[in-house]
Amino acid sequence: MAGEDALGPDSWINPLRHPQDKRLPRIAGPCSLVIFGVTGDLARKKLMPAVYDLANRGLLPPSFALVGFARRDWSDEDFGAIVHDAVREHSRTGFREEVWERLAEGFRFVQGEFHDDAAFDRLKATLRSLDTERGTDGNHAFYLSIPPKAFPTVCEQLERSGLAAPSGDSWRRVVIEKPFGHDLESARELNAIVNSVFPESSVFRIDHYLGKETVQNILALRFANQLFDPLWSSHYVDHVQITMAEDIGLGGRAGYYDGIGAARDVIQNHLLQLMALVAMEEPISFEPKQLQAEKIKVLSATRNIEPLSENTARGQYTAGWQGSEKVPGLKDEDGFAKDSTTETFAAIALEVDSRRWAGVPFYLRTGKRLGRRVTEIALVFKRAPHLPFDQTMTEELSQNVLVIRVQPDEGITLRFGSKVPASSMEVRDVNMDFSYGTAFTEASPEAYERLILDVLLGEPSLFPVNEEVELSWQILDPVLDYWAKNGKPDPYEAGTWGPASADEMLARHGRQWRRP
Ligand code: BG6
Repeated sequence: MAGEDALGPDSWINPLRHPQDKRLPRIAGPCSLVIFGVTGDLARKKLMPAVYDLANRGLLPPSFALVGFARRDWSDEDFGAIVHDAVREHSRTGFREEVWERLAEGFRFVQGEFHDDAAFDRLKATLRSLDTERGTDGNHAFYLSIPPKAFPTVCEQLERSGLAAPSGDSWRRVVIEKPFGHDLESARELNAIVNSVFPESSVFRIDHYLGKETVQNILALRFANQLFDPLWSSHYVDHVQITMAEDIGLGGRAGYYDGIGAARDVIQNHLLQLMALVAMEEPISFEPKQLQAEKIKVLSATRNIEPLSENTARGQYTAGWQGSEKVPGLKDEDGFAKDSTTETFAAIALEVDSRRWAGVPFYLRTGKRLGRRVTEIALVFKRAPHLPFDQTMTEELSQNVLVIRVQPDEGITLRFGSKVPASSMEVRDVNMDFSYGTAFTEASPEAYERLILDVLLGEPSLFPVNEEVELSWQILDPVLDYWAKNGKPDPYEAGTWGPASADEMLARHGRQWRRP
């Protein structure tokens, strides 16, 4: 039907008339965002630019305020200058003076230490005056971009100062960055502390991988199409490989990374979340509770393939070449001890005990200073049960693969066999590609844009709940214990694809890692 209400693909959709239409970006209501740890790298490279990008896209209300809390002796203006530099350097969207000026009017800085009651009282007074001056209405999100050991103190201070408890219709939310503990026990303790101050519905745990477009697209790929679901099980899938490879090293990150290692840094959160999205059943709806319930079911059914001596691998990079650059090994990076046993590469093999996945290994690997930066999920299919060709004609045919290219070069690739033109019937692998860059004119927002907006909107779908975090530790803890008691990481040269032990781990199963 024609007319101004029609929702055809080309029609302009009026947000005020169709507030429920999910095609429309929602605009946050009046609120302030308080960032603890505002002098850190994450705040500078990701959080501040994301706030500006949201403002630039018109997704923040006029009554928005950004409050920085840190030890530095800064004025509001100093803080504004820091945010300005961060935005200029790292924001995704172009700089517009008028957007910046409007946003900057809502910047405030509170100087103080986490254990200092007076500092939190000053924060409270600042937020109160913003409520009246800017109209933030008592709605405050507290972003803890700080080391986990400081979480309890900050949560206690927020409670003591009365900042954690909303009054009337207002809301208070807390945003927590990983790591959520370093094992199951510490995660439970952390969750208990946070939940003693904030109800679970007000806790937003950031796993920034869930904010990536390509990760959310796993749900569209699986549940909006008829094509893939019949193949999505042990009947057709031989195994799944989830890879998050980085080419960067750990120079400058010893404080966070030493003693943590690749498995805690990445597998416990990002990779297990990716696995859960790939392996879960269709949720009844995309309501947060339904989505979480399906992820929880998969994580509860996930176990390590034993023995761990044969089905895990860990490594530590040594000096080597990253492209044309000579790079040092971990032990020569600033802040790492010469005898550090921190792993910079980790690989594990998991199985999901369910009718759909019984017998299908999920191989998860991550590493620093690998061949190139790439994150992908590959479903490797079984070979066709019968090939009616001469063997020589299929020598260059491998297994069919569906690759979800999470980053960079975001998209999806399907690898299958095709006849080589002019041969009598030689079959060779070819790729069919979907690429975001060519399929869509819309640019993908940064993960932190989406996640910060969701916090301000109170939309919890993309945030793991405490049970997911604890189940992930339950999966990883036996591996960490095993590693702690048995030897140390195997060396691998920077710029390669990890230690030989990782290749051997798959070779034992008659398989090999992809070289993306
Ligand atoms: C973080 C890890 O969670 O993710 C880092 O702590 C890692 O070690 C980073 O470098 C990678 O994120 P992205 O979005 O660049 O893949």
